[in-house]
Amino acid sequence: MCGIVGYTGHVQAAPILLDGLARLEYRGYDSAGLAVRNGSSPAEVVKAIGKLYHLADKTDQGRALPGTCGIGHTRWATHGDPSMVNAHPHVSGNCSGSGSGTVESDVVGVHNGIIENFTELKEKLLRHGYSFYSETDTEVVVKLVDYYYKKYKIGPVDAITRTMVRVRGSYALALMFKDYPEEIFVARKDSPLVIGTSEDASFLASDVPAILKFTRSVYYIDNLQVGRISPGSVKFYDLNGDEVQLPVTEITWDTAAAEKDGYEHFMLKEIHEQPKAIRETLGSLVREGKITLEETGLTEEMLRGISRIDIVACGSAWHVGMASQYVIEDLARIPVRVELASEYRYRSVPLAPDTLVIVISQSGETADSLAALRVAKERGAKTLAVVNVIGSTIAREADHTLYTLAGPEIAVATTKAYSAQLIAMDVLAVQLAAVRGIITEEQTAGYLAALEAIPDQIGRILEEKERLQWFSSKIANTHDIFFIGRGLDYAISLEGSLKMKEISYIHSEAYAAGELKHGTISLVEQNTLVIGVLTQGNLFEKTLSNMLECKSRGAYLMGLTTNGNFSVEDSVNFTVYVPKTDEHFLASLAIVPLQLLGYYTSVNRGLDVDKPRNLAKSVTVE
Ligand code: F6R
Repeated sequence: MCGIVGYTGHVQAAPILLDGLARLEYRGYDSAGLAVRNGSSPAEVVKAIGKLYHLADKTDQGRALPGTCGIGHTRWATHGDPSMVNAHPHVSGNCSGSGSGTVESDVVGVHNGIIENFTELKEKLLRHGYSFYSETDTEVVVKLVDYYYKKYKIGPVDAITRTMVRVRGSYALALMFKDYPEEIFVARKDSPLVIGTSEDASFLASDVPAILKFTRSVYYIDNLQVGRISPGSVKFYDLNGDEVQLPVTEITWDTAAAEKDGYEHFMLKEIHEQPKAIRETLGSLVREGKITLEETGLTEEMLRGISRIDIVACGSAWHVGMASQYVIEDLARIPVRVELASEYRYRSVPLAPDTLVIVISQSGETADSLAALRVAKERGAKTLAVVNVIGSTIAREADHTLYTLAGPEIAVATTKAYSAQLIAMDVLAVQLAAVRGIITEEQTAGYLAALEAIPDQIGRILEEKERLQWFSSKIANTHDIFFIGRGLDYAISLEGSLKMKEISYIHSEAYAAGELKHGTISLVEQNTLVIGVLTQGNLFEKTLSNMLECKSRGAYLMGLTTNGNFSVEDSVNFTVYVPKTDEHFLASLAIVPLQLLGYYTSVNRGLDVDKPRNLAKSVTVE
């Protein structure tokens, strides 16, 4: 949902800003823009519609823009269509046109987030003589800062804090003021923002990979704080304008984690990184054969005291919740509800202190998941965040945080973070069962051994990816796909279907297999592809009969099952096998062929696999 970057130092800013934006392009890619200051001369603003390379071409890879202080933006449209006029940066001046070129404005800014009361603020500013050239909420917030700056003749920090108390919504804002040539001012509420410093330069970005090439020392600015950034140093302030000290964090992971490393796409690279993501996540939760949740702060006593679990998340993270529901209920005998965060936050779900609300999120910034977490805390439940991005808002606000160690995930469609979340939830399920005395030590050891074998088993599935590549070339022109399964297989179907549709743009739906005949089966016609997930022994025959019902109506069938179930070949047109493991953990294996199927189908259709249309990696608006 939009990415922002900034640089102030002693070398040319624009190439650095473009480099940072390239690493943030997964956050939005309908337009991009830069504003750069050269000493005390006015800001030069350049914008371009479409992917970032248009902006790079327009500025000769940044070389055509002189200046050592600047900000940049890559947009995922919220207010107003993707156009030059709506692209960021936005300026405070009453200019005509799109606010690009050399602009004399006092304030120039970029923004990630949504200002909810922008209409009311716009009316106020119109009454005070401002005019507007775009449809964006960002232009309003930039002009509001300008208004307070001039009305009260105060410094940038005070003008920004006054603005912050007037706006409702979420923002990571970076602003340059005409009177402060080498400085950038930032403010944050509920949208991600990191600040980095090196000896003689400073950087800001929506996400660490954008600045990692230049510095490993970063500050995670808190909600409702302001930063004043100058070359090599940064100061932070609270809403009263009082200076606050923030700790500096040294990033230990490598930039290589955010490079393609010879793979054609990030998604394929990340699919192959799943064994590592699982091994590392397991390694942090299981030491010397014992589960240790110490770093989360969850004690055995707390786990024993839980009488209900609500899992809240969005998209693929919600699918992890769906899979975990079956595992936790079966192993630990605790009732689990799985809720979409966008619904949960607006429901009056009664919560008690013995309810554990688990929020699962790769980015740790998803607006609905964050809101659901806050609602759960307000209502007195215990909260646990299962999060991948270290220092993210959800990770910081939850009572307890369990970090998945998948490393940075760049492709918009999640793969390795999903797998790391699944494993983390499986370990939690085993631990809940163990501390509540439902499974013996021996059983616990058996489950852990099964989990530890999963990375190698995924490696074996990946060795056979060519079969899926071949099958995907056969189905690349299909119009509709149904993924069906029961129990855990239904949860796998949900994720398989999302992987397919989000990157191949082929319409696809996941159904609990028994539900299909209550209406949806009327959509099945000659050659409709039905993919049945058949990993659960007790449900195998039931789902297979549902697949055959589709076949009688013309469907073409693919079956996904475990090694040894060869009889399935008598009924279906194409079969994919995954290794056997304890049935509770089969989602970790069965999802891999479905990820590959989605990936290769997208490649065969010539689509932008890593940046599918209309999507953004981190959904920081509701
Ligand atoms: C799909 C996908 C999304 C995310 C969802 C939640 O491939 O990646 O459905 O799972 O937007 O995002 P996080 O996990 O960052 O909260």
